[in-house]
Amino acid sequence: PKRVRVHHLREMKERGERWPMLTAYDVYTAEIFDEAGIPVLLVGDSAGNNVFGYDNTIPVTVEELLPLVKAVVRGTRTALVVADLPFGSYQLGPEQALTTSFRFMKEAGAHAVKLEGGARFVPQVEALTGAGIPVMAHIGFTPQSEHQLGGFRVQGRGDAGDKLVEDALALQAAGAFAVVLEMVPADVAKRVTAELVIPTIGIGAGPETDAQVLVWSDMAGMNRGRKPRFVKQYADVGSVLLDAARRFGEEVRHGVYPAEEHSYT
Ligand code: KIV
Ligand code: NA
Repeated sequence: PKRVRVHHLREMKERGERWPMLTAYDVYTAEIFDEAGIPVLLVGDSAGNNVFGYDNTIPVTVEELLPLVKAVVRGTRTALVVADLPFGSYQLGPEQALTTSFRFMKEAGAHAVKLEGGARFVPQVEALTGAGIPVMAHIGFTPQSEHQLGGFRVQGRGDAGDKLVEDALALQAAGAFAVVLEMVPADVAKRVTAELVIPTIGIGAGPETDAQVLVWSDMAGMNRGRKPRFVKQYADVGSVLLDAARRFGEEVRHGVYPAEEHSYT
């Protein structure tokens, strides 16, 4: 099977085919999601919460994400791997965005990068695409701007819906190959999806986007904490793992494991 390319995603939109995206942060999940036929894997800065145990994505650094991207790329054969640019690694301008993205491409093997923000980030998107780096945009609720946005809130209600459409169009014109829409009203997401020729990827954006993304640990029940309204949990991996760890512990304590078959003569 051949590697998914950004043009395939646009062709799927033209054919009206929906597609899924998941986050991944390590080689095992990357292998599993690749085998499951998930065409795009995002090494999200949601690793802040889901790998490093931070309260949000703000402290995440390039140095922290690089090895995760490297591992995910190694775990894939067909999935297109997108590296999320951490907070503070691209906002200074196109040059900083280029410097950071070169590292994700050269040192970790990323196939594309993602950055948060609307029309104000057109210079970054133009510089990156101009340098041959596919860019996924991300608008609506953008977690890196949590403090500016006033917490986890739906974005693009009322008049702000027009601004969202304008941002999406500007990012598309700048060369973005897809746009993530996070926590926006379903009707606004539908409007953006209809206006763009590039795919929209929804998370908390209703059923009308071209693609859907979820954080894998939310989707699989690995994150045992609070989950937002938009998350659907497809498995309870956390409980499976808890049970496995408990049984291992019991068997060691009771001398059941290791048995003869696990021992060398
Ligand atoms: O970091 C992340 O996981 C993301 C997705 C939720 C789009 O940005
Ligand atoms: Na992110």
